[in-house]
Amino acid sequence: MLIVAQSQLAGAGYLVAAVLFILGIQGMTHPRTAVRGNLLGAVGMLVAVVVTVAQLGILPLGAALMAMLVGGATGYVLAVQVQMTQMPQLVALFNGFGGAASALVAGAEVVSQVPNEATPVGDTTMLAAGTAGLIGALTLTGSLVAAGKLQELPMFNRKFDWPALPSANIAIAAVAALFLLLMLAGSTWPFWPLALLACVLGVTLVMPIGGADMPVVISLLNSYSGLAAAAAGFVINNDVLIIAGSLVGASGLILTNIMCKAMNRSLAGVVFGKLEPTAGGPTADEVYEGKVKSTSADEVAMLLDGAQRVVIVPGYGMAVAQAQYSVRDLAIQLENRGSTVEYAIHPVAGRMPGHMNVLLAEADVPYEQLKTMEEINPTFSQVDVAIVLGANDVVNPVANTDPSSPIAGMPILEVDKARTVVVIKRSLSPGFAGIPNPLFAADNCLMYFGDGKQAMVDLVTAVKE
Ligand code: TAP
Repeated sequence: MLIVAQSQLAGAGYLVAAVLFILGIQGMTHPRTAVRGNLLGAVGMLVAVVVTVAQLGILPLGAALMAMLVGGATGYVLAVQVQMTQMPQLVALFNGFGGAASALVAGAEVVSQVPNEATPVGDTTMLAAGTAGLIGALTLTGSLVAAGKLQELPMFNRKFDWPALPSANIAIAAVAALFLLLMLAGSTWPFWPLALLACVLGVTLVMPIGGADMPVVISLLNSYSGLAAAAAGFVINNDVLIIAGSLVGASGLILTNIMCKAMNRSLAGVVFGKLEPTAGGPTADEVYEGKVKSTSADEVAMLLDGAQRVVIVPGYGMAVAQAQYSVRDLAIQLENRGSTVEYAIHPVAGRMPGHMNVLLAEADVPYEQLKTMEEINPTFSQVDVAIVLGANDVVNPVANTDPSSPIAGMPILEVDKARTVVVIKRSLSPGFAGIPNPLFAADNCLMYFGDGKQAMVDLVTAVKE
């Protein structure tokens, strides 16, 4: 009787956790509700952990509390201390740890079955355990490599051009599949070599992918960590793990797809291809020589003096320079003089989804002023001054004109249609795609060279004067 009541209570707890996860994800759909969504998800996870610990009853309360305290404190310190530009690395580490946890849960379950050979583990459980071990271990090492690349650690950024690698990967995957089949035939020992091979695959699959493609890879690995958790949920018969894992798996895949679409690239192109400038494309000298006009803070301030409508286009350089606060200061100055200021947000500006939204929200820029590419593009011809701050590829008109360019077909912010474009960056260096940008040589474009933050601070001073 007591056991039935206990399991009903646990079921109710899991239901509450699952509802909180779903409400949490729903909250994430809008910046205004995102913080609440995040909190709801975290509370859901707390409920799920407490119910699981209580239901299993194998961990002394003190040990469980200590584990939660250490985990919670580590997560808090990491999240508070991490720089916004390092967020993708942190997410990668979290994904990797999630994958490792799922693989270990599945492994522990498999190990605990060994003495009970009289009641062999079912096929489904073995399949789920093998899947959790395979995907979880691959996610662990793949995520570690991805984090290392983004952190620009030299050992992860070496040239990795080994022609036999694809065949080696296929061979490793084939042996891993063999171990999975052995598990399905009833053996538990192949779980560990399977997990070990998956660890190798995580490294060999992610290592050749360019560092700049890592955000897409991290989103994909995020989805994998969810799938591994769902598989682990089937192994230990835990509903909330299946639900949470499926939510993470599905949302990670959707996000990966959105990122690929916004770059007009296929997932296979990201995972198996390389983003390199096409040979034979125009050189920087050919594009820029004698055509680039540089400007100064005072000159831009004069331009802005008569501007009715100003659009700021932030990019990766704003994140590097941490110029979002000065951007807001400039906008306030301009608005006080009667100009309308808006922000044009490209879906893949920066290096992670929502990168620009997060930075501008951090600086208290009103969300209503952030316009999507679809909203702002048809109106660029009515813009007096477009200020491009540290953005490059997302405003490169070559995407529309050169089908052989690496960004061909990528939808761009059509700033070149504005009356005047001011581009703030340190030099004529290319962006992530490594190609010259004819916008910088356009008749209506002025280059304001400098670090994004310093340039903005100087501009605010010039506007005030
Ligand atoms: P990019 O094309 O990468 O250009 C950034 C520019 O910022 C560079 O040309 C650089 O020029 C400038 N910059 C760097 N540090 C600066 C500083 N301190 N002050 C001023 N400028 C600075 O950036 P984007 O236009 O945002 O485009 C993003 C690219 O990343 C796209 O190609 C996209 O496909 C790719 N990508 C994005 C994502 C996501 S999810 N956002 C994921 C994967 C790939 P200087 O060196 O001359 O200053």
